[in-house]
Formats: sequence, structure tokens, C-alpha cells
Amino acid sequence: MTTETKTTDQPRTTSDSRSEYTEICLPNDTNMLGTMLGGRVMHLVDVCGAIAAMRHARGPVVTASVDQMTFLHPIHVGELVRLKSQVNRVFHSSMEVGVKVWVENLHTGGMKHTSSAYLTFVALDSQGARVRIPPILPETEEEHRRYAQAAKRRANRLAMKNRTRAEPEE
Ligand SMILES: CC(C)(COP(=O)(O)OP(=O)(O)OC[C@H]1O[C@@H](n2cnc3c(N)ncnc32)[C@H](O)[C@@H]1OP(=O)(O)O)[C@@H](O)C(=O)NCCC(=O)NCCS
Repeated sequence: MTTETKTTDQPRTTSDSRSEYTEICLPNDTNMLGTMLGGRVMHLVDVCGAIAAMRHARGPVVTASVDQMTFLHPIHVGELVRLKSQVNRVFHSSMEVGVKVWVENLHTGGMKHTSSAYLTFVALDSQGARVRIPPILPETEEEHRRYAQAAKRRANRLAMKNRTRAEPEE
């Protein structure tokens, strides 16, 4: 659909992309039990992931895929949803971003890890053409581990995409 243009080749570190996002759970975000809708959590994951991706690409991005997500704990009205994201690995025009979600109880300060997700974002220019993004430089042992694992996850994702494409039209 789009052609690829090129931006700077200057590498950027993983930590340059690292981002945080916090939101309070309000009644409008919830289901009939007063806990946050899964779709609302997914929206916040997408936003926090996109911030890390845009910080790395220094331009607009679109979400190409979101890997499987699990919700380990409910988020109640008045609790804080805290998200952290970073770019794990860059390919050509796409990059994998990891997002982790915690719920913080405002009264006790207690934090619980509730979800994690891997998203793939593609960098586009203002005409909608794909943009080759700068390489990423992992620095810590943990960043190197995530970088290595991201390649395997990408291979699975692309295989899944090809299988979906191969399904006949209804
Ligand atoms: C994502 C999108 C730009 C990919 O465009 P495309 O023409 O299919 O391009 P390609 O198949 O050549 O893939 C481009 C890059 O995206 C990656 N990609 C495409 N689909 C992917 C998927 N499902 N999962 C992971 N990566 C994917 C490719 O690996 C490639 O990466 P690379 O440049 O780093 O090698 C295009 O499908 C699109 O615009 N989708 C809609 C995006 C959107 O609106 N998102 C909001 C939610 S609906």
C-alpha cells in the first residue's frame, strides 16, 4: 500500500523511548461491577505504546498488531492505572513495543501488575508512506534479552498474519 522513505540512521537507545502514562479509573470507564472495561485498558496500552514508538521514530506511527493480553486483576473506580512502555526492537519501518500495566491503590500505595502486552507499530510519513526508522541500541542486560526475544515474536506474528491472509473470504 505504501512506499518506504528514509529518515536518519542515527541510533537511539532503548531508554530514550521509555515512557509512562497514568490515568485514574472513573465511572465512565467501567462495567456494571464498577471495574475498568478491558477495552479501556487496551486503549491505554495502545496510547502508552504509541508514545514510546513516536519517541523513537520522532514521527507518526500506526498500530499494526497487538499480541495476546491477559487481565490478572480488576481495576476499580478511584484506582490509578499506571503504564510503562519502551521500544524493544526496531526492524525496518516497524518496531516492537512492550507495555506493562499496574493498578495502584491510592489509599495504600499498593501496586499490582495486571497486564502486559507487545505491540507492533509502523512509522509513516505525512503522506502515509512507510518510513525506515533509526536502529535501537539496547544497553542493559534486560534490554538485550528483550531485543533478542523480539525477533522470535516477530516471526510468530508474521506467520500468524500469513495464516489469516490465507483464510478464504466468507
Ligand atoms: C500496518 C500497515 C502500515 C502495514 O502496511 P503493509 O502495506 O501491509 O506493509 P507490509 O506488509 O509491507 O509491512 C510493513 C511493516 O509492518 C510489519 N507488519 C505488517 N503487519 C504486521 C503484523 N500483523 N504484525 C507485525 N508486524 C507487521 C512488517 O513486518 C513490515 O515491517 P518492516 O518494515 O519493519 O520489515 C497497514 O496494514 C496499515 O496501515 N494498517 C492499518 C493500521 C491502523 O489503522 N491501525 C490502527 C488500528 S485499526
